[in-house]
Amino acid sequence: MAVDVLLGLQWGDEGKGKVVDYLAPKYDVVARFQGGPNAGHTLEFDGHKHVLHQVPSGIFHEKIQNVIGNGVVLDPVVFIKKEIEGLKKFHINFNKNLFISKKASIIIPSHRLLDKASEISKGANKIGSTLKGIGPAYQDKAARRSIRVGDILLPNFKKKYEELLAQHKSILDFYKFDYTSPEDNLAALEKDFFEAVEVLKTFNLIDSEYFLNEAIAQGKSILAEGAQGSMLDVDFGSYPFVTSSNTTSAGVCSGLGIAPKHIREVFGIFKAYCTRVGSGPFPTELHDEEGQKMRDIGKEYGSTTGRPRRCGWIDLPALKYAIMINGVTQLFMMKADVLNSYEIIKACTDYKTSEGTSNQLPYDLCITEVDPVWISLKGWNCDTSQLTDFENIPQELSDYLRFLESQLNVPISMVSIGPGRTETLMKKEILERA
Ligand code: GDP
Ligand code: IMO
Ligand code: MG
Repeated sequence: MAVDVLLGLQWGDEGKGKVVDYLAPKYDVVARFQGGPNAGHTLEFDGHKHVLHQVPSGIFHEKIQNVIGNGVVLDPVVFIKKEIEGLKKFHINFNKNLFISKKASIIIPSHRLLDKASEISKGANKIGSTLKGIGPAYQDKAARRSIRVGDILLPNFKKKYEELLAQHKSILDFYKFDYTSPEDNLAALEKDFFEAVEVLKTFNLIDSEYFLNEAIAQGKSILAEGAQGSMLDVDFGSYPFVTSSNTTSAGVCSGLGIAPKHIREVFGIFKAYCTRVGSGPFPTELHDEEGQKMRDIGKEYGSTTGRPRRCGWIDLPALKYAIMINGVTQLFMMKADVLNSYEIIKACTDYKTSEGTSNQLPYDLCITEVDPVWISLKGWNCDTSQLTDFENIPQELSDYLRFLESQLNVPISMVSIGPGRTETLMKKEILERA
């Protein structure tokens, strides 16, 4: 069998958690390959609403093995004290269903303080980070001084920790950041950290690259779950307003130790419109009450930080770019229901800049003045909640999908019409093939 990838094509929060949870029964393993507690993946089923940060979104399915891969930066405090604690009521057998790579890097408390100090120092140019320590943790990984999950089992763990902390303290001192204040008290954070590390030791800490390749050799199927979105990729996103990992399909190979030859489908998911949380360019953003309407109907508030998400119409140049970089084979459109009350739907087909009109992204979206070229389409303007199959969607919704397919040259095989597991319309032929 093979590895399929599911990732977001916009600026995150496309609905990855929902779709991974929906698709999970078709797989043996679900694996996270990058990111960390900056992710917030929401799942709704059987009257429950649950947000996952580092735990893969296959965790609610008894037969599925969930892997936190080497490409992830893991915060033991968020993991043990928030996620595992929050999952207790579901009586999940973590021993059987959850595996953590020994090569995943660990977020230590001072990473979070460094994130905060760095953002404060940037003033108005701040990234709008989730302040979970992601950037500093990946910096240490690239600088070859990270503490990795496997290190917590070794006798020199404390020494490694102290060495890294000393480095961090010198940087915090440079920023004149007070890590003894009640708000950012490093000593208190460290207490929580070491308690969490002790509990983390009791989980399955594994050589996940062997685990996953053995699974492939045994004919098992794997779904790689992306976090963040393609436009937040550290290489291809709206740099520097990005996260610090490769969120695109290339990250699957380095973040799990899986060779490219094993990758089969790349499912690219996008909202019927577009959102972004944090700073940075967003050419199709609506600054008026139209944007507020989308935010209200779509409940567009961050799953991790609660911040209001910026909202706008769909951006086809950015989507085309993400499809190209990822090699998307099937598209899934999310949150179609949010546009149910719209008479007119808009899409940006091209960018007008001082260089002319183009459907390609300029080198630097942050410094290029972009004027979107719009096309207007008739909205379906009706309730979609009673729909049960893809083949019966309203004509105007079908027209919107056909328009997008003609622009993007990739089939749309799924439409999501609500946050719940069952509010998912999959093309019949895809369902039958699965
Ligand atoms: P992720 O980070 O990509 O997993 O997405 P988030 O969970 O951060 O944000 C997506 C939000 O949209 C969550 O609140 C989901 O419950 C919700 N959602 C997902 N699909 C749909 C949909 O089709 N319609 C509506 N109305 N909400 C959806
Ligand atoms: P999911 O997986 C949306 C954004 C932050 C900020 C930038 C850098 O739920 O889609 P970081 O904390 O990584 O240093 O922040 O990236 N960001 C996200 N936006 N969804 C996410 O994850 C995000 N993770 C990070 O808002 O602009
Ligand atoms: Mg999210």
